[in-house]
Amino acid sequence: MPSLNVNGKNITVDAPDDTALLWVLREHLGLTGTKYGCGAAMCGACTVHVEGNPARSCVTPLSAVQGKKITTIEGLSPRGDHPLQKAWMAEEVPQCGYCQSGQIMQAAALLQQVRSPSREQIVRHMDGNLCRCGTYGRIVRAVERVVREGGV
Ligand code: FES
Ligand code: FES
Repeated sequence: MPSLNVNGKNITVDAPDDTALLWVLREHLGLTGTKYGCGAAMCGACTVHVEGNPARSCVTPLSAVQGKKITTIEGLSPRGDHPLQKAWMAEEVPQCGYCQSGQIMQAAALLQQVRSPSREQIVRHMDGNLCRCGTYGRIVRAVERVVREGGV
């Protein structure tokens, strides 16, 4: 059975190799913070980290993450107080909220790699994560707030 590390725990999953990581997370592990949007790598709602890099879990087969380290929104900070989560609240980013786990995971990957990104870098990095509610301006402001306050 495929084994992987999710949010610091080693697990084995009884599912076919071609099962999308998104469904392993949501249905096998009950980690429902990661959302299904398009199922085709087009929206970013399902973004998680694989070995620290953002990945679209809806098109990532279980076979591709065998033995790898996965982080979901639930594992970003054990108490939900990651600087990005705090900034998201301070800037009142979410509207319906559906896309926001993916947005935060995408932003977290940037800040892990670039300590002090410019507005242009933030916009470029976040470009593929769609929000039907149009919260883009607040997302950029929240990421800039984290940068201003010392990063992650
Ligand atoms: S649900 Fe995965 S990119 Fe849209
Ligand atoms: S907050 Fe509604 S889709 Fe982004």
